[in-house]
Formats: sequence, structure tokens, C-alpha cells
Amino acid sequence: MTDSVPGSLQSAGGQTSQGAPSSLPELVRFQKVTKVFGTGPGAKIAISEVSFVVQDLPNVGEMITIVGPSGCGKSTVLRILAGLPPHFPPTSGTVTVFGKPAGGPGADRGLVDQKYSLLPHLRVLDNVAFGLMLRGVSRGERHAQAREWVKKVGLEGSEMKFPAELSGGMQQRVAIAATLILHPRIILMDEPFGALDPKIRLHMQELLVQLWREQQSTVFFVTHSVEEALYLGDRVYRMSTRPGRLVEEVEAPRPDEPPEVMRKQSWFVEMTHDLLRKLEEDVPSSPHAGTPDAFAGP
Ligand SMILES: Nc1ncnc2c1ncn2[C@@H]1O[C@H](COP(=O)(O)OP(=O)(O)O)[C@@H](O)[C@H]1O
Ligand SMILES: [Mg+2]
Repeated sequence: MTDSVPGSLQSAGGQTSQGAPSSLPELVRFQKVTKVFGTGPGAKIAISEVSFVVQDLPNVGEMITIVGPSGCGKSTVLRILAGLPPHFPPTSGTVTVFGKPAGGPGADRGLVDQKYSLLPHLRVLDNVAFGLMLRGVSRGERHAQAREWVKKVGLEGSEMKFPAELSGGMQQRVAIAATLILHPRIILMDEPFGALDPKIRLHMQELLVQLWREQQSTVFFVTHSVEEALYLGDRVYRMSTRPGRLVEEVEAPRPDEPPEVMRKQSWFVEMTHDLLRKLEEDVPSSPHAGTPDAFAGP
């Protein structure tokens, strides 16, 4: 676990984001990225000089979780990375993906957000297969792959249902399958489990870990919940508010047990409290401050 000062965030190889060149290629680099919404006296700084480097680790992706209070710019960071307006392009600073300036949305980046972005008029199977259809994959082939993915996310038997017939947790499984089936090298998840019941949320965390192990992609996972961030993350980026900044990177062990087991281990409890304390110091007037799940709400 490493504490670092603002502006010198560490990256996978232990170097700082502004540090010496590394032998590993870069997957994502944010260099002093600032986003201001609006102009004049009403202008709002969403994020200020956010810098980090994530390296392209051969055959093993990383899980980067981003945690921080509401409004600190988590979604802004993710949406800039996804290339989605109005967050993209940033007001200043540079973003590179695979060493090239980031442009609009691309096949190398897949986004899952809190609103289950399913197509309501399509059945589960066609929702999962939708991206393959856009890529011109034949109907038989895309349905075969989609059936596999429906199974992997535990929804066998629901292939012919419409999204409205599914619970929130099931809809989010469909959204995850629809993204992972395309094997994006970078998976962006914006509070994907934020609207789920606590128990279902833990199941989804475990499922995500299982699926991601097979994928070799790097995941950026935004969450309010310190416990979710620590469970899932190889590295937790802590953001601070007014203006949104990246202030700390914490390394955490890979999850090798279900979340309800890992959450009881002493190192996990200690790290949770340490992170919560820092988050509470950032927002001393938070009405939710004081409990381990203080930041778990949507
Ligand atoms: N489209 C937008 N237009 C204007 N302000 C925005 C927009 N999106 C976000 N903001 C502002 O930028 C700040 C960071 O927002 P956001 O990235 O959504 O935070 P978080 O995801 O951490 O809750 C907030 O103050 C928010 O009001
Ligand atoms: Mg957000």
C-alpha cells in the first residue's frame, strides 16, 4: 500500500506518472487533464490536472477502481476515457490510449454504466449479440456466442425475455455480457452495481472477478463504495472534491475469496477504515459519514 502526494501518482511499475520511461508499453495516460464545464462566473471545474499512467501488462489486465465522494469527477474521468461528449474532449491536458491521442468511442473501450443501457425492444439474446451484429457477424454465429455469454452471466433460460421482464441485477448481467462479448481491451464501468441490493451486489462483484480473469482486459471501475473498490481493485484511485483531483493510489491484494469472506479479514477492515477516514476528511459535512458503507449509496 502506498501513499502518494497529489501530482505524483504511482503507476503499475512503481514509477510516478511523470517519472522515468518504462519498458512496458502504456495502455492509458492522463497528463494534467482538466475539464471545465461552462464559462465565466458559472464555470465548473469537474476535474483538475488529473495525471496517471496505466501500463499494458502482457496477458494480465488490471482492475483499477476509482473511489471518491459524489461530484468529485469520477464519471468525468471515465467518460473522457470513453471519448464521450460533453466530457470529452477535456479542456486541457492530454489523454492517450495505446500511445495515441484518445479520440471518440472505439472498439478498444467498452462502457457499462449504472443505467442498464439495454435496448428495450430486443430480447436478452439480441441485446447480448447487438455489438456483434454491428460488426457484421452472421446471425448464427452471434447467437451462438451470445448463448455462451448468457450462460456465463448465469441467465440461462432468459434468452428470449425482454429487459422489462428482468430484475435490475439481471439487466446488469445482460449489460455486462453485451460488453464483454466484444472483448474490449479496456472496460469502463461507472457504478454498475450502484442500484442493486447489497446481497446481489456482492454476487455481482464475485461474478465480475470470475469473468474478468478470463478476459485479460484492464478495467476502470468507478464506485462510491470503499469496500467494493478495495475488493475489486488491484489499485484503488482515490479522488477528492472541489475541484476533482486524483490524490492517492492504494494497492490491494487480488480477490481470491468471495467478498463476504474477504471483507472480514483484518487487513481489509483496516484498509477500509483508512480510506473511509480520508474520504470523510474530504467531505466533513457528509450526511452519510461514519459507517463502512457510507459511500455505498448511489
Ligand atoms: N454535463 C455536465 N455539465 C455540467 N457540469 C457537469 C456535467 N457533468 C458533470 N458535471 C459536473 O462536474 C462535476 C463532476 O461530476 P461527475 O464526474 O459526474 O462526478 P462523480 O461521477 O464523481 O459524481 C460535478 O460538479 C458535476 O456537477
Ligand atoms: Mg458519477
